[in-house]
Amino acid sequence: MKVTIVGAGAVGASCAEYIAIKDFASEVVILDIKEGFAEGKAMDLMQTASLNGFDTKIVGTTGDYSQTAGSDVAVITSGIPRKPGMTREELIGINAGIVKMVSTSLIEHSPNVIIIVVSNPMDTMTYLAHKATGLPKNRIIGMGGALDSARFKYRLAEALGAPISDIDGMVIGGHSDKGMVPLTRLATRNSINATEFLSEERMEQVAADTKVGGATLTGLLGTSAWYAPGAAVSEMVKAIALDSKKMFPCSTLLDGEYGLSDLCIGVPVIIGKGGIEKIVEIELNDAEKAKITESAEGVKKTNDLLTL
Ligand code: 2OP
Repeated sequence: MKVTIVGAGAVGASCAEYIAIKDFASEVVILDIKEGFAEGKAMDLMQTASLNGFDTKIVGTTGDYSQTAGSDVAVITSGIPRKPGMTREELIGINAGIVKMVSTSLIEHSPNVIIIVVSNPMDTMTYLAHKATGLPKNRIIGMGGALDSARFKYRLAEALGAPISDIDGMVIGGHSDKGMVPLTRLATRNSINATEFLSEERMEQVAADTKVGGATLTGLLGTSAWYAPGAAVSEMVKAIALDSKKMFPCSTLLDGEYGLSDLCIGVPVIIGKGGIEKIVEIELNDAEKAKITESAEGVKKTNDLLTL
């Protein structure tokens, strides 16, 4: 499998590193516009190969999309990250133009590519990638829910004093501080409903901490997080590479599912070699339905800022 990572910043480099370490891809191409930056990141990562035990070949290129030709998967991380106090939505002005250029450049050289969008505001950038490329909807995947669910599990484990391996949980909805919907009702500790172990107040705090997980890290780091985003992307790419039929919450173009249409937002999907192979409609209670509907309204407001 050939994978392209557009953007050699912290998130892009983490994507490349985790994909290489998991060793399911034959080649990873990192592309950036900053002279020599992608080449340097690729070389540094390749010098870990004998230490981390992978055979994946990582190469870098400065802006030469011909090097990405024939990619099976391409991950768009390029654009500006948040600064402390910013919302993801505030990035749209700069990032929309970048994502539009990048996605069209990618399909020129890799017409069969599956695109994973990371750049923020992610749900809107995913929608933009659809409009810009016209790719079939199964081949454009927004990465947000996999990351938010990892943060949800982290907070649940913290609240329960449990090992993370005991925990399962999913976050759906928009990848935004206000729009996320942690499915607290369905979270489990080793198949037991987590609500049996936590008070309503404590679970509400878990959900609240999850929703600002990205902003919390931006406040601590001075920029957006990169390890967990990179790890989340690598798991999605692995599911495509291995045709795993694994379920993730991902931003995908809806056409009536969950009563929503003409937007990309996080819902459970099955990922395999074809990208998004199925949108999974789970039973939501009235409160959850109201939350995802409200979240969709927020995403559509951001979409309206696009000049397509
Ligand atoms: C995050 O939540 C970058 O949006 C990403 O960390």
